[in-house]
Amino acid sequence: MFESLSSMASTMLCGFSSTPTTSPTLQDHCKKKLKMGSFDRTIFSGKKKRNHSIKTMSNQIHDRRGIPWLPLRFLIFNRRIFIYFLSCGRITLALAVNVSRFEGVTMAPPDPILGVSEAFKADTNEMKLNLGVGDYRTEELQPYVLNVVKKAENLILKRGENKEYLPIEGLAAFNNATAELLFGRDNPVIEQQRVATVQGLSGTGSLRLAAALIERYFPGAKVLISSPTWGNHKNIFNDARVPWSEYRYYDPKTIGLDFDGMISDIKAAPDGSFVLLHGCAHNPTGIDPTPEQWEKIADVIQEKKHLPFFDVAYQGFASGSLDADASSVRLFAARGMELLVAQSYSKNLGLYSERIGAINVLCSSADAAARVKSQLKRLARPMYSNPPIHGARIVANVVGNPELFNEWEEEMELMASRIKSVRQKLFDSLSAKDKSGKDWSFILKQIGMFSFTGLSKAQSDNMTNKWHVYMTKDGRISLAGLSSVKCEYLADAIVDSFHNVK
Ligand SMILES: Cc1ncc(COP(=O)(O)O)c(C=O)c1O
Repeated sequence: MFESLSSMASTMLCGFSSTPTTSPTLQDHCKKKLKMGSFDRTIFSGKKKRNHSIKTMSNQIHDRRGIPWLPLRFLIFNRRIFIYFLSCGRITLALAVNVSRFEGVTMAPPDPILGVSEAFKADTNEMKLNLGVGDYRTEELQPYVLNVVKKAENLILKRGENKEYLPIEGLAAFNNATAELLFGRDNPVIEQQRVATVQGLSGTGSLRLAAALIERYFPGAKVLISSPTWGNHKNIFNDARVPWSEYRYYDPKTIGLDFDGMISDIKAAPDGSFVLLHGCAHNPTGIDPTPEQWEKIADVIQEKKHLPFFDVAYQGFASGSLDADASSVRLFAARGMELLVAQSYSKNLGLYSERIGAINVLCSSADAAARVKSQLKRLARPMYSNPPIHGARIVANVVGNPELFNEWEEEMELMASRIKSVRQKLFDSLSAKDKSGKDWSFILKQIGMFSFTGLSKAQSDNMTNKWHVYMTKDGRISLAGLSSVKCEYLADAIVDSFHNVK
């Protein structure tokens, strides 16, 4: 009985709210079934006089043979539904059901990357492997806090620094250090004060701030995004209402770069578009252009008067060298081009949850840079007011302290080489186990945390469902989450999925 009451109540909720999920047929059905009357009451509460709208409805429930049960009545008062029935003129049962103001809010789908970790946690199989999220793990598959981070935190603690608000643009010592790390300390653009740097909420927040700048100052301008790209890029530009389209990047036939496709799509875009480029360690493919290809990309971007917009989320993580991984950005800057760069310290300093990064806009003059910075601050203020301090202090202490900086480079080299060694081991295991003659060498040509395996969605599903290997459905695996002892198991899973699932 109470089951049916609550289901009727929810039917009524659907029937009388105009939610996008309610089909017209259901609404019509409810209107037909329920007799509804309505009257206005003036109710005094304290000294205030309020008008409340009261709706009453009645309905008859029948059993399977059509014999009527108790005549039910419904009353909607102040967005609550009261269900009651009258017997001998008395209310003998009353139920109150809250009508949510959020009836029209539908359930969002799980995030395609972060949702993988949730599914992994729920799996009890001991062979399970989480290769979904790009978080660095030790050989024991444990999270890793860098020693230099611990040392910087000790320094901060010793100094007894306070937790006062930062200015909108963030910590000055961080902003200086991060721009120098990106462009190189001796780069003339730094001394000429042509870089507008604002501390951001890691890579994502920095991209989002730049997207807001594009939306406000370049209305209608398109952002060109590689196909495929990191899943959140599209969300960021969609939410900022910045139109985007894709340029070809990945060639499934060669599991390599579709360089000609990329160049012709950038050429075909309207002049003055923004071209989003992964500075190094392209996510998800792990395929980067060669230095010669970067030159040609810069040529066509210059020719078309486009604006390069770099996403640098893996500086130091791709090759193990901070300078080598910033070479694409520096190449464009050396041509005198204006450009944007979003930076993240999630991976290279393992500061994932500190949300520390920056947006840098390289302008042709110090005056333009000052104006751009003022507008970035204006955009940030109503979004989050000012950024968090802890991660900024850690970065400033590591990058700005020669001793810690050298230690950081050594640790990063260790992390990058652990990833390179599992990459090699996976290739060796695949080549040994797969007797079909398939060439797996594309895995060795890829760079950074990820490998794009070329597995289809169905094959990736098999990896998870049969082998308990969690990965994104585009066939990407994070090698940072793989240990050398698990390489053989992973190779078995890949060979099975590749050959036995179509
Ligand atoms: C290409 C790319 N850009 C940006 C980010 C931003 O990450 P975060 O916001 O954690 O710094 C990531 C993280 O995976 C990424 O892969």
